Amino acid sequence: MGKITITEIIKRKNENKKISMLTAYDFVFAQIVDEAGIDIVLVGDSLGTAVQGHATTLPVTMDEMIYHTKMVSRGVKNGLVVGDMPFLSYQVSVEEAILNAGRFLKEGGASAVKVEGGANIIDRIKALINIGIPVMGHIGMLPQSVHKMGGYKVQGKEETAAEKILNDAKMLEDAGVFAIVLEAIPEGLSKRITDSLSIPTIGIGAGIHCDGQVLVLYDLLGLLPQPMPKFVRQYLDLRSLSLEAIKKYKEDIDAGRFPGADETYH
Ligand code: KIV
Repeated sequence: MGKITITEIIKRKNENKKISMLTAYDFVFAQIVDEAGIDIVLVGDSLGTAVQGHATTLPVTMDEMIYHTKMVSRGVKNGLVVGDMPFLSYQVSVEEAILNAGRFLKEGGASAVKVEGGANIIDRIKALINIGIPVMGHIGMLPQSVHKMGGYKVQGKEETAAEKILNDAKMLEDAGVFAIVLEAIPEGLSKRITDSLSIPTIGIGAGIHCDGQVLVLYDLLGLLPQPMPKFVRQYLDLRSLSLEAIKKYKEDIDAGRFPGADETYH
């Protein structure tokens, strides 16, 4: 299997073949995610909450994102690596957006970047695409705007808000993004958006009608403390499994059972 391209991702929509996307933040998990056949590996700025222990994604810096994107790119052979542009790396000016997005490709080894927003950042998105940087959009619930939204709340429930999100989706498509993440919106709205676009939608908390789905890796593996958002399907309780294993290791040390003869050089 060769590296999946952006053209192939877009083609999936016409072929009615779902797109799988998952986050990764380091080399080991990137290898596992890639080996599982995931199409798009997102180095999400969820790094801030999943890995770094922050309450929001806002503190994540460009240097941190590049550091993690390099590790992920080294682990991914087949999937499309997308770097998530962190807060304030593209909001200030077109020039900063280009320089920062360029770093994801030039230093991080990513093939594309993702940005949060619609009409409000359309000039920056066009500028990136214009110089050859593929862009993935992200609308609906925007974690980088958590304070403006008054928390992590489902968006687009009222018709005016839904119309605005639909309009953002169309503007992103016209600007040339290759796919759009729809986060935490009602499934009726995500169906309307998905049906009205020729590029794929990738949902997280946006229901079954999207062309693809994305989750945060550590949510899926059950590594983060509860409670999880409603849209998460937890496939494993890796937090409990890890805790059990580490406790056993400590018990073995305390009881003088580790290392054993097999684990010792003679
Ligand atoms: O940062 C992230 O992980 C994301 C996905 C949840 C879409 O933006």
